[in-house]
Amino acid sequence: MVKLLREGALALLTLDRPEALNALSFAVIRDIGAAIDEAAGWDIRALILTGTGEKAFCAGADIKELVGRSLMDERAGSELGQRVFAKLDSFKVPSIAAINGYAFGGGLELAMACTFRVASSKARVGLPEIKLGLIPGYGGTQRLPRLVGEARAAEIVLTGRTIDAEEALAIGLVTRLADGDVVEAAKAFAAEFTGYGLPALALARAAVRRALDVPLDEGLRIEADLSTLAYRTEDAAEGLTAFIEKRKPQFRDK
Ligand code: HXC
Repeated sequence: MVKLLREGALALLTLDRPEALNALSFAVIRDIGAAIDEAAGWDIRALILTGTGEKAFCAGADIKELVGRSLMDERAGSELGQRVFAKLDSFKVPSIAAINGYAFGGGLELAMACTFRVASSKARVGLPEIKLGLIPGYGGTQRLPRLVGEARAAEIVLTGRTIDAEEALAIGLVTRLADGDVVEAAKAFAAEFTGYGLPALALARAAVRRALDVPLDEGLRIEADLSTLAYRTEDAAEGLTAFIEKRKPQFRDK
């Protein structure tokens, strides 16, 4: 139900349940967690997630599985999704959701747990849980405001409306639109940063990630700490020397 491939410096994770528009059964969520654990052991520089088929990235939680669940089961389900998506959010290298079609509910929450989102022009996204009498349970109410601001997020969650690719780009919900094939566009995007040194990439991401979680003075202290760590790396010495010597730096991830 989930395919994991390695292509050079990239891992490609594909939700492969097209008959249900790649809906997230609990088995699929566990498979995503296992695939992330496996990819964590690989020497890669980016992780790309997408969905099988022309139509959907992921239509959300498997609604057929949600019917008739007890409150305790439901809490465990929400916590399972949150745990697996948090693992993705803090994955060792940046992740890119290549949104090839619908990304609704848990599908959009999965995409929001990625570092970046690249969407096809026919992508449609939203958090329609309210229409089912539910609310997002896999991180959507927390990650959406961090991406688009509180009032816009409340509008999206309370109306459950569908957002097209152009609007998703305009409000910062997706990072880029793809001209052609969305996975190829995600690979091209990854190529824009995978050539840099891993320590600087990891430190930069860690600093930006904390920005909306802590007060400004604490964030600035974190930035000073991480910037000092970056300064001490061999890659920084190489990058600065290469600039002076007017040559391309040879980063060695140290
Ligand atoms: C299970 C789903 C599904 C889902 C689609 N399917 N979405 N099965 N769970 N979320 C199945 C359909 O039942 C159907 O199978 C097949 O996929 C094709 O779907 P259609 O509806 O026939 O396709 P289409 O008419 O093109 O409509 C596409 C769609 C629609 C607009 C994406 O399927 C839709 O609205 N899906 C639900 C989206 C949604 O509400 N997601 C949020 C879920 S709640 P069969 O075999 O029946 O023909 C959530 C978080 C909950 O994600 C919080 C938990 C803690």
